[in-house]
This record gives sequence, C-alpha cells and structure tokens, in this order.
Amino acid sequence: MAIQRTFSIIKPDATKRNLTGVINAKFEAAGLRVVAQKRIHLSKAQAGVFYAVHAERPFYDELCEFMASEPIVVQVLEGENAVLKNREVMGATNPAEADEGTIRKEFALSIGENSVHGSDAPETAAEEIAYFFAGLEIVG
Ligand code: CMP
Repeated sequence: MAIQRTFSIIKPDATKRNLTGVINAKFEAAGLRVVAQKRIHLSKAQAGVFYAVHAERPFYDELCEFMASEPIVVQVLEGENAVLKNREVMGATNPAEADEGTIRKEFALSIGENSVHGSDAPETAAEEIAYFFAGLEIVG
C-alpha cells in the first residue's frame, strides 16, 4: 500500500476539553503524520457546506450548529493506508460501539459530539482536504 493522505477534524467537544495533543498522540502512535494542521472557527454555513451530504438527515441542523459552536482543528494525516488506519484509530461513529483504545471510545461524549471526523474514502479525502487547505499548506 502506497503512502496516502486523509482529512481529519478534531471537533468542538474535544478542542473545548483541551484534547488536541492527546488525540494527535494517538494518530502519531499509529504511524500517521500530521502534514497540515490549523485551528479555525467555522460559521454554521461553512459547516453546512462541508456536511452537505447529510443535508436530508434529521441531525443535520444540530450537527452544523455543533461544528460552529467552538473552534475546530482541521488536519491532513499522511501514512500507509491512511484513510482506513485513521478510521481504526477513531473507532465507530457511536462511542458506545467503539473498540477499546480508540479515540471515540476514550473521549467522545455522544454520537453527535464524537470528538473527531475522518474521511471515509480516498476520493472524499481529496475533496475534504481541498475544502480546507491550499496545496502549499501541506508539507509532507
Ligand atoms: P462524522 O464522522 O463527522 O460524520 C457525520 C457526523 O454526523 C458524524 O460524525 C456524527 O458526529 C454525526 N451524526 C451521525 N449520526 C448522528 C445522530 N444520530 N445524531 C447526531 N449526530 C449524528
């Protein structure tokens, strides 16, 4: 498997509890390199564009409200099989179903306030990275 990139967000519930460093330590321990990172505060409209794929879901409004409630940390992670590896490190969307040792098992508060987002496929990763980062900001 070649070196791959994925997109990651450390969400408001985690930045608020000062968990950016411990979450990054989990990524790095799994062999993922943080090759771009910035702390930003999204507007609800910007969150809505990012999560447009969920626009018809009942939780969409709540999700956008939450993502705009506090700063987030957006990241590009790089490593072998990075998309899948990141999903393993994050654990299941619902922390009640997440494996021991995963970020969501240890830190997530609920299915909505679940501490991290990670791309679900390489194609999505490329789109999500392009929404937040210019090429020059990614230093592998
Ligand atoms: P994420 O990986 O960022 O992708 C979409 C997000 O929607 C997901 O994580 C959850 O935080 C959120 N989500 C999914 N299902 C629900 C739900 N039933 N209620 C509230 N939020 C949800």
